Amino acid sequence: MEAKAFINDQIELIKKTVGEAGALSALSGGVDSSTCTLLAWKALGSSLKVVFIDDGLMREGEPQQVQSIFAELGIPVEIVMAQEDFFRALSGLVDPEEKRKAFRQAFYGTLSRIIKEKGVKFLIQGTIAADIIETKEGIKTQHNILEQIGIDPERSFGFKLIEPLKTLFKHEVREIARKLGLPESILKRMPFPGPGLAARVLGEVTPERVAIVRQATKIVEQELSPFEPFQAFAVLLSDKGTGLEKDKRKFGDIIIIRSVNSRDAMTAEPSILPWEVLTRVTERIIKEIPSVTRVAYELTPKPPATIEFI
Ligand code: XMP
Repeated sequence: MEAKAFINDQIELIKKTVGEAGALSALSGGVDSSTCTLLAWKALGSSLKVVFIDDGLMREGEPQQVQSIFAELGIPVEIVMAQEDFFRALSGLVDPEEKRKAFRQAFYGTLSRIIKEKGVKFLIQGTIAADIIETKEGIKTQHNILEQIGIDPERSFGFKLIEPLKTLFKHEVREIARKLGLPESILKRMPFPGPGLAARVLGEVTPERVAIVRQATKIVEQELSPFEPFQAFAVLLSDKGTGLEKDKRKFGDIIIIRSVNSRDAMTAEPSILPWEVLTRVTERIIKEIPSVTRVAYELTPKPPATIEFI
């Protein structure tokens, strides 16, 4: 793939496809949706509507950070509050695939409402090749796959889809992103799953449980980012573990730390980290999140495990 030719071709294609019908880009701030938004902005200019859906499942401060990075690029981003809709959709669900499907339904339901309000016809989204392959192979339901598994977005949600990156893998998207001039703050962001922290809370997804994993994620990212893993994050298990508090037995939360190196997310190995670093993350999580009694480091490569736990 020649990056410059790819960019020019996609800009022309987006222009031609959208015409006067108007388009919306759903930005999450990850490399894929950011690259896609920038391509669409170059094609359509300020007629492109860019929204960030705050589903209540993002990392700390993420919506505002993404908004300000794009403001610097001259692209206004509207933050749409939809936390209640997402928590309602996920309430009572524990099965990973059911949670993924409920997330997808809430995600496109919200987008469909926004698209009607804005009076546009197209949704531009940053689906990449790995998302399609893994959903088709039945590995997992990626939140952003519709047409490829026989869901007609127009009939189900009232919009047509444009997916400029669907033939590319992660490292190729990064190459395009660099060529387009996306800032390092986006390029360096670790991949974050579409269903956000809901993918990192095993068992029921409630605002309280998401808050625990959000705080643990922040600590893991702060301590492990200097080692530049492909991805590093925390997962909250659904079981509890015994600990001690002031000589009393306490049945508390269990956090797993996952840090992996990978090129394209199709395979991955656990990062080899200094013992002191793992000890420091553990101590911070135990101290800063009082409900946690145990912390463990995950050692399984992909395959056989996947990177995320659901
Ligand atoms: P797995 O867990 O399948 O993840 O090894 C591979 C890569 O994809 C990310 N991931 C997702 N990304 N929607 C996304 O946009 C999703 O539903 C989703 N699930 C996993 C994961 O973080 C990793 O980088």
